[in-house]
Amino acid sequence: MKVLIGTRNPDKLAEIVRILGEIPGISWVTFRELPFPEVEEDGRTLEENAEKKARHLARLTGLATLAEDSGLEVAALGGAPGVRSARFAGEGRNFQANNEKLLALMKGEWDRRARFRAVAALALPDGRLWLREGALEGAIASEARGRGGFGYDPVFVPEGEARTLAEMAPEEKDRISHRRRALERLRPVLFALARGEPPPPGGDPGSA
Ligand code: IMP
Repeated sequence: MKVLIGTRNPDKLAEIVRILGEIPGISWVTFRELPFPEVEEDGRTLEENAEKKARHLARLTGLATLAEDSGLEVAALGGAPGVRSARFAGEGRNFQANNEKLLALMKGEWDRRARFRAVAALALPDGRLWLREGALEGAIASEARGRGGFGYDPVFVPEGEARTLAEMAPEEKDRISHRRRALERLRPVLFALARGEPPPPGGDPGSA
């Protein structure tokens, strides 16, 4: 069974492939083998965007499609940047501009609680859909540290850690990440589909 990984973000793609690894009976297809267009992320929630990307690409390609939407929610900012995490400092700005904006807004703020959230969606061309969520609790650092990972990793310190995610080895981040948690919850669905067994509940046909 072929499963398309519906992201054109190379950092995310690398993490998804690393986390899911080999699943017997599944061969991953990426934008490198099957270049697909960007899907506009105009939903109000991570759930809406993950569902939209997965359904759209499954219909377009005829392949089972796994998509993911993720973001950083900062308590003192009322949950921002949230679904707008990628464009926090403006359309076309980069990770560094986003981090600088976040650190500036958080200057002098004592409540530094934050959480990464990921919603993974698996859609089949017949309209069935599974959504699974994962979160990682932590805090916003006082300055950017580390060179690993991507996005907000240099400014995010996971709960119980002193280092930022960007100071950890990729495998260390993968063990605890929001992405890992969401994808592990999707794994039983992928296993069952690959074996031709009845998949766990949640395969809502929706309005395909
Ligand atoms: P999207 O899911 O493609 O809309 O983008 C998610 C955005 O959230 C990324 O561009 C990052 O800014 C941020 N983000 C999501 N997951 C992570 C992560 O694991 N580390 C750091 N930033 C992340």
